[in-house]
Amino acid sequence: MKAIVYTQYGAPDVLQLKEVQKPTPKDNEVLIRIKATAVNSGDWRLRKADPFAVRLFFGLTKPRHSILGGVFSGEVEATGKNVTRFKIGDSIFGSTDMKFGAYAEYLCLSDNNAIALKPANINYTEAAVIPFGATTALHFLKKVNIKTGQNVLINGASGAVGTAAVQLAKYYGANVTGVCSTQNVELIKSLGADRVIDYTKEDFTKNNENFDVIMDTVNVLSVSDCLKVLNRNGSLILSAAMMPEMLKGALASMTGNKKVIFGVAGQTAEDMIFLKGLIEINKLRPVIDKIYSLEQMPEAHTYAQKGHKKGNVAIEVL
Ligand SMILES: NC(=O)c1ccc[n+]([C@@H]2O[C@H](COP(=O)([O-])OP(=O)(O)OC[C@H]3O[C@@H](n4cnc5c(N)ncnc54)[C@H](OP(=O)(O)O)[C@@H]3O)[C@@H](O)[C@H]2O)c1
Repeated sequence: MKAIVYTQYGAPDVLQLKEVQKPTPKDNEVLIRIKATAVNSGDWRLRKADPFAVRLFFGLTKPRHSILGGVFSGEVEATGKNVTRFKIGDSIFGSTDMKFGAYAEYLCLSDNNAIALKPANINYTEAAVIPFGATTALHFLKKVNIKTGQNVLINGASGAVGTAAVQLAKYYGANVTGVCSTQNVELIKSLGADRVIDYTKEDFTKNNENFDVIMDTVNVLSVSDCLKVLNRNGSLILSAAMMPEMLKGALASMTGNKKVIFGVAGQTAEDMIFLKGLIEINKLRPVIDKIYSLEQMPEAHTYAQKGHKKGNVAIEVL
């Protein structure tokens, strides 16, 4: 089968189209014919080993997994004998979790991975861009127990995580403020945000307005500035935090009356089934910036790693 393989960390050109062995499903696995995948921040961070700590988990001198791609949509082509959740021919979408491997024509995954049947009202390309941003946003919004009527601010509202977070926070009944640049204001309004702040013109931390939840999906805000405009017992979500912000956040949580949440988001099959339901009732929609082919993967990575995509970059495999 065709796959995009990388055997060393580095620039987008380490991603090379190769012929590799088609996988065979184990007893608990489904063999998926991949229709589409996406280039997420997780993929380019692993490709570049950025931050350095990536190497501690994914290979010190060279990548342990040679095929990236953490999300997919596709069709079940074969099932192991113990698989009960899916049958041959099912259209599915999901996350590979830490296994990766979706930059390929086929992938085997355990049927208890974060996989669900594809929503009937979106195509494969659209389905492939949902799992990364939406499971991340869902993980963190559930952690802070988001409630109807809360004032929630999403910084980086135009990214993969941000576009999902705005829609999910609205679904939970929050009063949502999205922060993005001028070119994305209309997009964020169209996703249901009650208000949009253009970060090139206004600094929300200086507006004398307080929030119950602030989610920084970009890691560009000062932790102490955010805490100042957070209500008592409010929550600051630092979904893109690096070590310095995590330390500041942990200290603030221990010493104050505001919670700071960070860490790695998990994905479950239940989350994917829930997201499928939201898509089918039009409460969540995929946002796609650009679509590339598998062969154009280096170009897609070059674009995605600039950090200014509008929602998602999709890859059509078939
Ligand atoms: N904790 C976890 O488990 C987890 C999971 C997923 C992702 N992440 C991390 O979260 C980060 C974001 O991921 P993503 O996939 O959503 O990124 P992305 O799709 O690349 O989006 C980044 C967005 O941030 C916006 N942005 C850039 N500078 C900004 C600023 N100063 N103020 C407000 N918005 C700004 C950009 O919009 P403009 O072009 O308008 O600037 C862009 O739309 C990554 O660092 C990733 O590693 C963490």
